[in-house]
Amino acid sequence: MPAEESKKMLGETMLKMSKMDDPDQIVKNAIMEHMTEHLEMADYNAMIMLAEKCGEMETADKLRETLSEEEEMADKTMDGLKEAMENFSMKKGIEQSEE
Ligand SMILES: [Fe+2]
Repeated sequence: MPAEESKKMLGETMLKMSKMDDPDQIVKNAIMEHMTEHLEMADYNAMIMLAEKCGEMETADKLRETLSEEEEMADKTMDGLKEAMENFSMKKGIEQSEE
């Protein structure tokens, strides 16, 4: 492979790696993941209300089970967000306030 092509490929790889380690992007991804779980929880809550309104209690119970899984995922995505913010703070040199 010609040196110029190798150099270009190395540059592209380095750019991809720097983006993967971009603390801003990691935080944005963590926020999106957490937001998605809460959006799903809102959807399931709305469907539960509708099922109850229609007297579909068995359906409402099944939806509650899924809602519970979404709540567990939201806890996990919150852990991911906390970890992303720790990483972000460390890379940006932000230290814990003494107050
Ligand atoms: Fe989910």
